[in-house]
Amino acid sequence: MGYRAEYESWKADPEAWWMHAAEAIDWSKAPSKALFDRGDHIYEWFADGEVNTCWNAVDRHVEAGRGDQVAIIYDSPITGSASKTTYSQLQSQVASLAGALASKGIAAGDRVIIYMPMVPEALVAMLACARLGAVHSVVFGGFAANELAVRINDCTPKAIIAASCGLEPGRTVAYKPLLDGAIDMADHTPEVCVILQRDQGPCEIGARDVDWHAFQEGVEPADCVPVPGNHPAYILYTSGTTGAPKGVVRPTGGHLVALNWTMKNIYQVEPGEVFWAASDVGWVVGHSYICYAPLIHGNTTVVFEGKPIGTPDAGTFWRVIEEHDVKSFFTAPTAIRAVKREDPKGLERAKYDLSGLRALYLAGERADPDTIEWAQDLLGVPVYDHWWQTETGYTIAGNPAGLEALPVKIGSPTVAMPGYDVQILDDAGHPVGPGTLGAIAIKLPLPPGTLPTLWNAEDRFKKSYLHAFPGYYETGDAGMMDEDGYLYIMARTDDVINVAGHRLSTGAMEEVLAGHPDVAECAVVGVADQLKGQAPLGLLCLTKGVNRPHDEIVAECVKRVREQIGPVAAFKLALVVDRLPKTRSGKILRSTVVKIADNQPFKMPATIDDPAILDEIRDALQTIGLAKG
Ligand code: COA
Ligand code: AMP
Repeated sequence: MGYRAEYESWKADPEAWWMHAAEAIDWSKAPSKALFDRGDHIYEWFADGEVNTCWNAVDRHVEAGRGDQVAIIYDSPITGSASKTTYSQLQSQVASLAGALASKGIAAGDRVIIYMPMVPEALVAMLACARLGAVHSVVFGGFAANELAVRINDCTPKAIIAASCGLEPGRTVAYKPLLDGAIDMADHTPEVCVILQRDQGPCEIGARDVDWHAFQEGVEPADCVPVPGNHPAYILYTSGTTGAPKGVVRPTGGHLVALNWTMKNIYQVEPGEVFWAASDVGWVVGHSYICYAPLIHGNTTVVFEGKPIGTPDAGTFWRVIEEHDVKSFFTAPTAIRAVKREDPKGLERAKYDLSGLRALYLAGERADPDTIEWAQDLLGVPVYDHWWQTETGYTIAGNPAGLEALPVKIGSPTVAMPGYDVQILDDAGHPVGPGTLGAIAIKLPLPPGTLPTLWNAEDRFKKSYLHAFPGYYETGDAGMMDEDGYLYIMARTDDVINVAGHRLSTGAMEEVLAGHPDVAECAVVGVADQLKGQAPLGLLCLTKGVNRPHDEIVAECVKRVREQIGPVAAFKLALVVDRLPKTRSGKILRSTVVKIADNQPFKMPATIDDPAILDEIRDALQTIGLAKG
């Protein structure tokens, strides 16, 4: 069946279509049906089935005789080390860690935070939780202690599994002080912290801590614990409009079924082949496509600890693809832009044989046409943009190349996947025709594996996603669809920005800046950045009477965001201004500021309080190299 027939087959009978997809998963108790309508637009999938994620990602492959196949390739140019873990080895490592966690009383439903860099043990920790039905929440290493504390308070973990350090080019990131700082700040205290000591930066083991290896000594390995299909597999926090991150809940059964479907149909790989997503386990791409999907599908996954450039050069990606015979490669457009900037002529690429590679997949942010074209020419394989979110956990719109490679239209992530009825709505919630811009919404129910709710925040879930357009999920993206059903993603409709493929909340940064004693009012916007897509820019209005040098205050603000949110916020640009442009009702005109900064044409907002402020803002932006016509 081609794409159109498959999509129509889903649309005609979603229940049958998903039950058929569910047959590829090993259930302890098969679900009696796919969709469970809980009323009030709350849906669950495969709720009465029983299943274990770790069994499906590890044990069943060993049982099927594939124990000697490599499950994880660890390639770490930043440390100069590499290793391979077979499915059998992974099974014993995961069963051992799960046994140790169980011996501390961790059981199905208990939360465990994982705070680790890109090492295979991060996947072992995730799978060990899954083995017990414990709910993990992985926190990205580039967040500051304060962000970790917020997550500790929200999901109240019984245990934290962390590494002693992570490695960034030129510096070692000591995780332990961040971890201890976060626990000191938090209201909740975990019972135990399991610490993986790394040679590059070992740490002191405190009273609450236990060494990763010592923790597992003499314990009984644990078996897989079946959990209901609607059991939360994990919580992953992502940026929303306010400073409080949203705890996206991933349900177990739907996650298994949907991710498994994507591996062949979207990413074109057969079990046994090598699939590589160059992201980080702290992001959704890392959850779905470094850890779970490739393993569930029986592929070999690559855990890459390095950067696209500088570890050691712009040929790193191509070296990994050749060396490990990667068939499908997935990364963020920023990473390709970084390589392009460093090696525009592709001299590094010429050193490697990439004949095994079938396609490059890009997601996480808008893929600009220049980058796509450059990558296509360089690699000689199709480049497929695809669009999705932490909330969905896998592709909403993409090119289902394994089913049928559709023509690429550069600038579009292609078409809606089966399971997703994507519509473009006007402000009143009415569908608009082809070529008309509107809010991108998905008709409910969302497909299996997508978020059923937010952790501890059902009301926020409804308010954030379901209230704007009754009967639809609001994606937070705006865009349009063409006559052929190709989707175009143009912008966010909220205050979320995307910096180097990392989703960040301008509201969270504003909260930090507003906490500076000299800042009376502020606004953070995302301005265009050639490498990272967007970069945050802070506009600061000072408290009356503050007479200190502006660059001192700006430097303090930059430091504050780094300390309170983390280096990943990449907050480096700030500017003191006399006033902020506002509407008469007091709303800050953020999008107008962005247009001025990026030299885009804009209409004078009819409700602006004082148009003269815009000239002041333009002058101020020009002092830092923005708004240059
Ligand atoms: N732990 C600690 N710090 C981290 C970190 C981590 N896991 N990841 C990033 N940081 C730090 C970086 O060291 C940098 O710190 P600095 O301000 O001291 O230089 C800061 O956070 C910003 O990082 P980043 O935005 O990644 O920028 P960069 O200049 O270091 O690298 C790229 C630029 C393009 C090479 C890099 O962003 C990249 O590889 N992007 C790919 C994007 C990606 O994989 N996204 C995931 C979604 S698919
Ligand atoms: P995250 O939840 O971090 O994956 O971020 C999701 C958001 O990133 C989406 O809502 C979009 O705004 C943006 N995004 C992700 N993929 C794409 C894409 N292929 N094209 C345009 N924007 C994208």
